[in-house]
Order: sequence, then structure tokens, then C-alpha cells
Amino acid sequence: MPMHYSELSTPALTVDLDVLDRNLSCMAAYCREHKLGLRPHTKTHKTVEIGRMQLSRGARGLTVAKVGEAEVMLAAEPEELLVAFPVLGAEPLRRLAVLARTARILVSLDSETAAQRLSAAAVAHGVTFGALVEFDAGLGRCGLPPGHGCVALAKEIQKLPGLLFRGVLTYPGNIGGVEAQRHEQAQGVAAAVRRTIEAFEAEHIPVEIVSAGSTPSAFISHEISGLTEIRPGTYVYNDLNTYYQGACALEDCAARVVATVVSTAVPGRAIIDAGSKTLSSDLLRQGAQSGYGLVTEAPDALLFKLNEEHGFLDITASSRAFHVGETLTIIPNHVCTCVNMHDELFLLRKGEVVGTWRVAGRGKIR
Ligand SMILES: Cc1ncc(COP(=O)(O)O)c(C=O)c1O
Repeated sequence: MPMHYSELSTPALTVDLDVLDRNLSCMAAYCREHKLGLRPHTKTHKTVEIGRMQLSRGARGLTVAKVGEAEVMLAAEPEELLVAFPVLGAEPLRRLAVLARTARILVSLDSETAAQRLSAAAVAHGVTFGALVEFDAGLGRCGLPPGHGCVALAKEIQKLPGLLFRGVLTYPGNIGGVEAQRHEQAQGVAAAVRRTIEAFEAEHIPVEIVSAGSTPSAFISHEISGLTEIRPGTYVYNDLNTYYQGACALEDCAARVVATVVSTAVPGRAIIDAGSKTLSSDLLRQGAQSGYGLVTEAPDALLFKLNEEHGFLDITASSRAFHVGETLTIIPNHVCTCVNMHDELFLLRKGEVVGTWRVAGRGKIR
């Protein structure tokens, strides 16, 4: 007999399968329409079953941040896995080389040191890695300045045994404002992409892959010409950050934490059993909004503080009565860090629990 989500032992992370399915299909359709490859970043879901769903909807491969995530995601059987993070340690490089016997492995990097270490690991284990040169399109995190420096590193990569230069990558995490800002920010990213592509053209070096993309920028990726693929991750679930950026509706938020009101003893407060070890302490990325998540049953209640196991709701402005023992549903601010704290997902269809999936990649930070 299916169980209603309100009967779950809490706190529990639930995923509405219909919403998940819609989010996956929308992104796949957008990429098909604009002839963009899709190589979704799996750091959001860390779940093999969702990796398989992405591949079956036409993703050309999967992206991970860590070798440990790659080891997990191989079970989804991607033909190609991109590690969008420089891998430098001898031990993770050895593990990555083992994976390269099963799937094609691509790694993004922005230094000669990273290229040399990747090459040494490839030679030692008799495998080949694809390499993407990362450039910075305005975020200021990893990546060489767009243009000639990228070509210089690509030339070094071409000289190194065991490496195949395949193209360039950037993470446009700086595209994150409301819609009007996003279009403008995309033009800045487009200029960086153009400068980089032109630098390669000037040296007659073919660039097979030009990889970018994020969730807030996903559906305007076609405004950045020259991209061959995008790597959105958060779009599978969406979250309050995505919502406040105007990049999704609340109904598109597939992952929600079910929590129980455990105390109303202090006037003006309701305490829930979801704290920082359930929701993560991440605040919203932008705007005047505060709080640690949206209580869908009481948007006028503010989740203003978290202890590890307790969430503090300010209910003074709420028109609703709160009762000990009732369940509430919370949309997290940042779903990726929230998912990373849960062993399993409870799968819902029309509010009924129809199964569970393991978050097999949770905690795989190496
Ligand atoms: C390198 C890289 N690519 C892609 C993504 C996916 O972006 P989003 O979570 O906005 O979908 C991220 C997110 O952190 C990233 O770091």
C-alpha cells in the first residue's frame, strides 16, 4: 500500500517524479531545439538512476566534480564522463586512470602542472585522457583569461603523451541575476567565448568542444554563440535560488524536505526537526530574501535560524496555526548541498511514496 509523504519518518528528502521528469525533458528538448549537446552536471543529484534518465533523454555524457563522483556515476554507463575540476593528487589520478579503461574520461584544467600530472598518470596506466582548457568568462574562480593563454596551454597539452586536447570549458556562474540582467551577463560570456574561439582559429587549432552552461543561464545558452554543449546541474530539482533568480517557478522545485513540527512551546515560534544537517546552512545567493528555505504550507513563516537538528520558524506574521506533530514541506535554498546530506531520496507521485533511490555519490568529495 503506498504511503502518503506526511507519514514518512522525518526529516526526509522527497523528490516529485513528475516534476523531475518535466525538468529533465524540458532541458533535453531545449538542447535538441538549439542543437546544443547536453552534458549535465551530476553534482546536484549524485544519484545513478537520475544519471541514467539524463542519458536516456539524449545527454551526450555526464559531468562530475570529483573522481569519487565519477566512480559512482560510471554505473549509469555514460560513454564519456567529464571531470569539470582539475585533478592533481596522485591517488585520485590513479583512480581516474582505472576509470579510463571503462569510459572516455575528459578533465578540465587551467595549468601546466595539472596537464603534466594528468599526462604522467595516463602514461603510467596506459590510458588516454581528453583535456579541456578552462577559461574564465567572468566568474573569477578557475580558468585562464579568455584568448591566447588558452591556446598556449592547449599547445602544451598537445605535446604531452597520454593527453588529447579536445576543447575549452567555462562555467558562467556569473550569469545569475534576474532575467534582464541574465541576458546582459550572457553577452559578457559570449564575448569571452568568442575571444577564445578566435584565438584558436588564428592558430588553426581545431576545437571540438566548447562547453559552458549553468541552470540560471541554461535557457539562454543559444544567445552565446559558439557553444557546442551545456552542463546545467541544478535544473533537475531547482531550488529557492533558482526561483528567486526567476529561472523557474515554485512548481518546478522537485526536491523538498519533509519535516515535523516538534515544538511550539515558545510563543511566536515553531521548531521543526530539520536543521543545518538536513537543509544545509547555505543562504540565498541574492536579493533581500532571508531564511533557510521556504515552508510551502506557510510562506509567511520565516525559517530564520538553524541549529544542527532544529529549524527555528518565526510564525509571528503567519496567518496559520502550527501544531506539534504536523508535517511541513520545505524547498531548500541550495538543493545541491542539501542532497549531499541525505542517504536516500523518497520518490513521490501525487504525494504518495512510490520508492526510494540511494544518493550514492553523497559525501564523495575526493
Ligand atoms: C563547473 C561547473 N559546471 C556546471 C555547473 C552546473 O551549474 P548549475 O548548478 O547552475 O546548474 C557547476 C555548478 O556549480 C559547475 O561548477
